[in-house]
Amino acid sequence: MATIRLGDEAPNFSAKSTEGTIDFHDWLGDSWGILFSHPADYTPVCTTELGTVAKYKQEFDKRNVKVVALSVDGVDSHNDWIKDINETQGTVVNFPIIADEDRNVSELYDMIHPNADSKLTVRSVFVIDPEKKVKLIITYPASTGRNFDELLRVIDSLQLTAYHKVATPANWNNGDDCVVVPSVATADIPSIFPKGYKEIKPYLRMTPQPNLN
Ligand code: BEZ
Repeated sequence: MATIRLGDEAPNFSAKSTEGTIDFHDWLGDSWGILFSHPADYTPVCTTELGTVAKYKQEFDKRNVKVVALSVDGVDSHNDWIKDINETQGTVVNFPIIADEDRNVSELYDMIHPNADSKLTVRSVFVIDPEKKVKLIITYPASTGRNFDELLRVIDSLQLTAYHKVATPANWNNGDDCVVVPSVATADIPSIFPKGYKEIKPYLRMTPQPNLN
């Protein structure tokens, strides 16, 4: 197991899932991706998380993001548990769940933290860009359900940087002003950011969010 760091290529793998065998890179295609692990099937926090992700499908689709979950339980267990998720969360699970019974993917992505739990995955999240580069890694403890609004917020920020040459300041939310990335010279700002900008310091240039009308 090698440490995965931001900017690294996301390791490829082939794994069984509730939607058949997945070759991860092929499955991602040209999309952004989220790979996230949860400790086990039939656990309460995971049930709410997977229901929430299913409800966010439109939001992920809008951003060209494919989502795949993972735990070390098998496909039959996942499929039975999905019935409970759909019943209790009022949704239809609409993304694959990897059955990582041999822990191949969990090891590859360092999702088992032995001092937290020797066998089960923690709540890892990896965001991967269309070039298959890892853009975000977050690890939550098993007892804390993830904030998927925060994940959407980070994806919006990553995509603004990738496509519009802006970064996002502390506590930024969609619609707030953005930071012009340092690699853009101040002299070039007017042609790149026609909505205008404010130079607070030579290194701190703010502009309205470029991808909004
Ligand atoms: C769970 O629901 O997945 C869970 C809750 C508390 C501790 C560990 C896992």
